[in-house]
Amino acid sequence: MAIAKYDVQPLFAVPFFRADLSHAITDAQVDYIKNLKMVTNRDNLISENLYIFEEPELASIKAAVQEALDLYATEVMGIDQSLYVTQSWSLINHPGIGMHTHSHSNSVVSGSLYYCELPDPPSNMVFDKSITYQQLVMNPKVGKQNIFNTPINVVTPKQNEIFLFSSSLQHAVEANAASVPRYSVAFNCFIKGQLGDYRDVSHL
Ligand SMILES: [Fe+2]
Repeated sequence: MAIAKYDVQPLFAVPFFRADLSHAITDAQVDYIKNLKMVTNRDNLISENLYIFEEPELASIKAAVQEALDLYATEVMGIDQSLYVTQSWSLINHPGIGMHTHSHSNSVVSGSLYYCELPDPPSNMVFDKSITYQQLVMNPKVGKQNIFNTPINVVTPKQNEIFLFSSSLQHAVEANAASVPRYSVAFNCFIKGQLGDYRDVSHL
């Protein structure tokens, strides 16, 4: 007898948070970030200052990022502990330049902020489900892709958006296909508060 009915349920899912921070970003801050001293990264340019959210000029942005992190901790992670930004830096991808696939160590949640106008096309962020070497690659056929089997997922940023995602999630940025630079800010976060359980000897 043939199977007449079956069901497939999602057991787990990977969150990706996005929100608009336009209320917290001024023209003066855009100029301030764009004019930060930059140094060469592997392919793109990165600010010499790697704690830019500590600068008083960016206080309102830091506060809005913290608000997003508080939402992520309480509503997405559902935890009592809080998240706080550790390092924060600006990036410039000149035409033809993207960012190789990477993840962020010594961080719980990572994020990016598209604080000014984006080029057209804006270069997508490409998330990769795999976190380790793939000995067997079994990608779904065209037309059979779904949330369970897709190896990557692509997100297009919009001006003034903040992205938050697990620091363990591998991601890359498409090469800038426009003729103008692509500006962004990125940051890492760590957790504040108690973890684990005293009697389980997992307390921290
Ligand atoms: Fe990154």
